[in-house]
Amino acid sequence: MYTSVADQTTDQLGGPLSVLVRQKRDHVRLSALMERLKGSTGEDQAAVLLDIYRLVFPHAFAEESVLWPVLRRVLPDGEELTLEVEREHQEVNELVKKLEGLDGGSPERAQVLGRLTEVLDDDVRDEEDALFPRLQARVGRRELQVLGVLWELVRRIAPTRAHPVVTRRPPGNVAAALPLSVLDRCRDLVDRALLGADGPAVPALHRISSVLADASHAVELLPIMRSGEDPSTRLIAGAQPFPWGTAALCAAGAGLVVVGARWTAHRAD
Ligand SMILES: [Fe+2]
Ligand SMILES: [Fe+2]
Repeated sequence: MYTSVADQTTDQLGGPLSVLVRQKRDHVRLSALMERLKGSTGEDQAAVLLDIYRLVFPHAFAEESVLWPVLRRVLPDGEELTLEVEREHQEVNELVKKLEGLDGGSPERAQVLGRLTEVLDDDVRDEEDALFPRLQARVGRRELQVLGVLWELVRRIAPTRAHPVVTRRPPGNVAAALPLSVLDRCRDLVDRALLGADGPAVPALHRISSVLADASHAVELLPIMRSGEDPSTRLIAGAQPFPWGTAALCAAGAGLVVVGARWTAHRAD
């Protein structure tokens, strides 16, 4: 029988550098934020949600790119176990995307927020009670510490917003990391500035935020961002938007073909 990460001390989890200690710390922070979310409304709720996104998305991104590949390697049923949490992460991405499209007075909002809280809770329980104790039984203290450092590094440069179109697995999610992270972090700054802002700056800030959201959406539609994807974590909610990223790549490819043909014709003359 395995002991939940929630019931173990820092030393039992491999010391302060261990990935299990870092995970547990983030999960405790998440639970405090979810408590704050419960009674919040309006701008307070928007601020708490931004804090939750900032915590949850880089955290999950680093799990998907660093930890789950290790679990798949060391556990005979690693594929099944990690797919379950990847589906939870996918649902969180889809729920947050949906939430961003609902206004404050929408009756659907409370329902989406309720489901979001539920899935986040399930994800933490699956990791602390099942996945991590199984990982702990298979790898040594030293490896838990190395994984902790790697996970932390990736977490610090990972995207901070929902990207339900991007695959939950390498190599697609790794390719998405840098461009999406830059765009997301700029959007975080703008959205934070919007909280409590008034006057003529407000429409301009809204415009910048939506341009950044559109740009990251165009990036996430590039075909490479889906490589490695399991079909069960493919975007299921909502209609697929126009694939601007794919269109841009096709246009660039067509341009190269035209230039190449002209250059060949010129040499033949
Ligand atoms: Fe986690
Ligand atoms: Fe997770």
